[in-house]
Amino acid sequence: MQQPDEWEFQANRILLSGKPPHFAPAKPELLVIEQRLAALAASLQRPPVLLVLGATPELADLGLRQGCHVYRVDCSPAMLKSAEFRQQVEDRRNETVLCCDWREITTIPSGTIDFVTGDASLNNIAHLDQPTLFAELRRVTHPGSILAFKQIVLPDQPDPLHQFDKALAAHRSGRLSESEFYKLIRYVCFREELYNPDEHTLDAADVFATVLKKRDEGALRKAEFEFLYTRQGKVKHTLYTQTEQQHLLRDHLGPCELVSPSGDCYYRDIVNVFMVTIPPDPIG
Ligand SMILES: C[S@@+](CC[C@H](N)C(=O)[O-])C[C@H]1O[C@@H](n2cnc3c(N)ncnc32)[C@H](O)[C@@H]1O
Repeated sequence: MQQPDEWEFQANRILLSGKPPHFAPAKPELLVIEQRLAALAASLQRPPVLLVLGATPELADLGLRQGCHVYRVDCSPAMLKSAEFRQQVEDRRNETVLCCDWREITTIPSGTIDFVTGDASLNNIAHLDQPTLFAELRRVTHPGSILAFKQIVLPDQPDPLHQFDKALAAHRSGRLSESEFYKLIRYVCFREELYNPDEHTLDAADVFATVLKKRDEGALRKAEFEFLYTRQGKVKHTLYTQTEQQHLLRDHLGPCELVSPSGDCYYRDIVNVFMVTIPPDPIG
């Protein structure tokens, strides 16, 4: 699901606003990844070689600050361009930016990557294509490599706040921030009607059509609708439950630990960091 037109639309919107997009990684998520990268550097006694899946400059910057060689890979030239103003590290001599498909990063030699990261990157790969990407990640990494994916997942456990009316009431009473409310609307509240369990997809176009309907029915106030609509888009995300996601990574790559970013944000059930270690090669 490369969705080049949609990412070009998103890139133009980012450039027009001049601000990082709402889908840029948050500080607590970056901290989890930064700390694990530093721990690997300490055990290797050298800066790890880092692969970033996506244009996401915040992830590339944290590697550059630790002296890593960074490969930053995205198939959208528009997204790579729109990410430039978010880059904070000036000296980028240790960075290689590649515009290609993550499933075939032929310029990266086998076994050379120590650490892989990505911000909702796997959410952009169709269910049936995930094994191809995992095989390419196995090729470029080596036993002991770490893969730290910030992923959006569907909560395993039901919660009253997963219902639209309850989430809206919690937001109006101040219990849910705008951003938390958005995450529930985008990924959880309409899951029953809109999630496609065969493809494992939830299409933002369908979610925002439902948001429009709620506005037309008078269920959303003008300001609430306007805020949600600033995040409007047509990205089709591949989503698994938290447990399914963990098992998928474990089965294809290696032991997978779930790390929750700090803070008490409600949506920790929806956004988590999945930390995988590539196991030793089987003997014989
Ligand atoms: C990683 S995600 C989310 C964006 C990220 N959170 C950020 O802050 O920039 C979206 C990016 O994935 C890229 N993408 C999707 N599928 C891809 C693929 N198969 N190969 C390379 N890039 C891909 C899109 O071009 C888009 O720029």
